[in-house]
Amino acid sequence: MSVVRVRELRKSFGALRVLDGVDLDVARGEVVVVMGPSGSGKTTLIRCLNLLEQPESGTVEVCGTRIDCSAVPRRRTVRELRGRTAMVFQQFNLFPHLTALQNVMEGPVSVRRVPREQAARVGRALLERVGLGDKCDCYPAKLSGGQKQRVAIARALAMEPEVILFDEPTSALDPELHAEVLQVMRELAAEGMTMVVVTHETAFAREVADRVVFVDGGRVIEQGPPESFFGAPGHPRVRAFLRVVGM
Ligand SMILES: Nc1ncnc2c1ncn2[C@@H]1O[C@H](COP(=O)(O)OP(=O)(O)O)[C@@H](O)[C@H]1O
Ligand SMILES: [Mg+2]
Repeated sequence: MSVVRVRELRKSFGALRVLDGVDLDVARGEVVVVMGPSGSGKTTLIRCLNLLEQPESGTVEVCGTRIDCSAVPRRRTVRELRGRTAMVFQQFNLFPHLTALQNVMEGPVSVRRVPREQAARVGRALLERVGLGDKCDCYPAKLSGGQKQRVAIARALAMEPEVILFDEPTSALDPELHAEVLQVMRELAAEGMTMVVVTHETAFAREVADRVVFVDGGRVIEQGPPESFFGAPGHPRVRAFLRVVGM
């Protein structure tokens, strides 16, 4: 069964049509890397997957919870869908007034009503897992970008999502900090986490992705396993893009 199933997704901002009939399936345990030129709608696409953006038509389904976007969705259905997804943002989006541990505990305590003590125990274990066991009591301002992004990944995991959506998780980081974040993501993939990753990290895509999806002009214009996507891309726009990013 697909964890994510998107059909004919359309989204405009005013007169600008950003998504123009996107279909996307993600199987359980699959890692799908999404690439495409700047402004092609990659962020909009993953924000539509958990209805941070309201698409104008099409369907979004996550683990059987299905939303027909041309109707006003029921609040309960939206909540259910959001409960199955977690997002990791380019700019981390940590709460600056909360410590690393408090950031990780926030969702479980306030959304899922997990008792504080239990949330703290799980939160510490998750920070340990992303290599930040010694940073539980640090505020984001005292952490490097790579550490902040790892806290954000721990926070995503704390919600026990069915799928994690990553929006260019390394692109706000200095180059020397990319590796520590990609390593955590590599480990999650190896553990079987279902992941949709918008990124231009081609080495990561080659090594970790099961499938690379290329978005341009509001549609998926090419997709395939990394060997064929990078080795023999069919679409001229994909070839041009890969030349620019140095593949
Ligand atoms: N909230 C918004 N209001 C108006 N235009 C937007 C909004 N969000 C994105 N856009 C526009 O939609 C297009 C796609 O944006 P985005 O999904 O961020 O692309 P990408 O992530 O691929 O760079 C861009 O032209 C962008 O300016
Ligand atoms: Mg983007």
